[in-house]
Formats: sequence, structure tokens, C-alpha cells
Amino acid sequence: MLNGKIAVITGGARGIGAAAAAKLAAQGADIAVIYAGSSALAAQVCSQCSSLHGVKARAYPCNVADFDAVRQTVTQIRSDFGTVHILVNNAGITRDGLVAAMSEQTFDEVLDVNLKGAFNMIRHCAGLMIRNRFGRIINITSVAALTGNPGQANYAASKAGLIGLTKTVARELAPRGITCNAVAPGFIATDMTKELSGQAAQLAAGIPLGHMGTAEDVAQAVAFMADAPYITGEVLRVDGGIAM
Ligand code: NAI
Repeated sequence: MLNGKIAVITGGARGIGAAAAAKLAAQGADIAVIYAGSSALAAQVCSQCSSLHGVKARAYPCNVADFDAVRQTVTQIRSDFGTVHILVNNAGITRDGLVAAMSEQTFDEVLDVNLKGAFNMIRHCAGLMIRNRFGRIINITSVAALTGNPGQANYAASKAGLIGLTKTVARELAPRGITCNAVAPGFIATDMTKELSGQAAQLAAGIPLGHMGTAEDVAQAVAFMADAPYITGEVLRVDGGIAM
């Protein structure tokens, strides 16, 4: 159980982030949702966490790619909640295209959100966790980081970078009682993959378990890592076996 723990989830207004917020709230954690898109969706996630599980939940608009905005948001969360125990770096974007034609801007945008965004959050939350001598950092990477994926040079590079970040942070902060792990989803049915829904049967044929995963499947792995005292630097695939 996570009673008394404060969890920050980036990109928590929908998809995997919203499912992770609900799961951590169900385990008793108070929830700070960071969102970049719809404030109505973020508010809905928070009100469900509070009404269903009786935890405190608040939403904060913030672009995780902006170092100063993240500093200000974490300062606000500290003032509202007191500290941070669990950080789920879930915010992510895709801007797919073949590498031979990819613009510099398209590459940078994806790296800025997916990789630098996670660094920014860790950078500004680590001090609070060090003071607590406790922390759980969970970075949402992707099987694209493990296998590569044509059309996703920027995305796969950002997600592979997250694995290096995860292992380094795990080593640096282990002496302070802080773990850092990555969860690597495969094909999960969310807004990010909705344009693939027409190819569901074709995709399923390549997945050993025979179907796409759900946001809840990934949230279960996040909650496991949030409560795992002796696992750090690990990459846990939640992919129906696709990248084994
Ligand atoms: P999604 O598109 O529904 O959720 C992404 C969330 O990140 C959105 O709420 C969005 O507003 C937020 N976000 C985007 N840019 C942001 C920024 N600059 N600052 C703050 N928030 C920002 O997609 P989904 O599927 O829920 O993705 C969640 C994570 O899981 C992402 O990191 C994604 O790369 C990863 N993932 C998803 C897979 C899938 O098949 N759906 C597979 C592997 C990894």
C-alpha cells in the first residue's frame, strides 16, 4: 500500500498516465497530475481519484520540456503536498517520419519532451526525495528503445536515452534510498496508437499474447515498481511478449 505517499504523474490526464494515477490512488497515494493538454480531463482524473479512493488529488498545467516551468510546478506541488515520494515520467509524444527526411525540429521536439522532460522532472524532484531518504522514480520508455522501429528514429532515440538515464539515476540515488526503474510498453490502445486501430489484426499477429495491451496493463507495472523496495535500474516490458 502507498498510504501517505505523494505521487506525481506527468501526462496524467489521459491514457497510460491517467490509468497510473487511478492505480496509485487506489493503493492510497495522493496524486499530483501534470498535464499539457485538456484541463477538463486532468480535473476529471483528479476528482475520480478523490471520490473513489479518498485521496488528495490536484492538477498542474506544465510543459515538462521547459526546465523553469518544471521547477516552478514542483515548487507549487511541494507547497500543496509537502513533498514528493513517487515520480512517474509518463509524458510523451510521437512525431514519426523516416530518418532520411526528418527535420531537425521534429527530432528536437520529441527529444525535448520524452527525454529532457524526464530529466527536468527528476532534477527538480530528486532533492525532495533525498531529504526523505525515499523515492520511487518510474520512467515510461518503449519497446521501440529495445528493438528500434522504422519511422521512429526520434522516438526510439528518446526512449533509449530514458533507459540510460534510468540506470544512471538508479546508481546515483541508490545510496539515498531512491529507486529508478523503467517500464517499456509495447502496443497499448490509447490516443497515441489510435491511428493504428485499423491495423489491429495485423499488429496482433506479431504479438505473442495475440492482442494490444491496455493502459491498465501498464499502470499495474507502474504500481508494482512504486511499491518494490529491492528493484532498481530495471526495464520491465509490458508488451505481450513482442520484444522478448
Ligand atoms: P497519450 O498521447 O494518450 O498520453 C501522453 C500524455 O503526455 C498526454 O496526456 C499529453 O498531454 C502528455 N504530454 C505530451 N507532451 C507533454 C508535455 N510537453 N508536457 C506535459 N505533458 C505532455 O499516450 P499514451 O499512450 O498514454 O502514452 C503515455 C506514455 O507511454 C508516453 O511516454 C508514450 O511514449 C509511452 N508509450 C506508449 C505506448 C502505446 O502503445 N500507447 C507504447 C510505448 C510507450
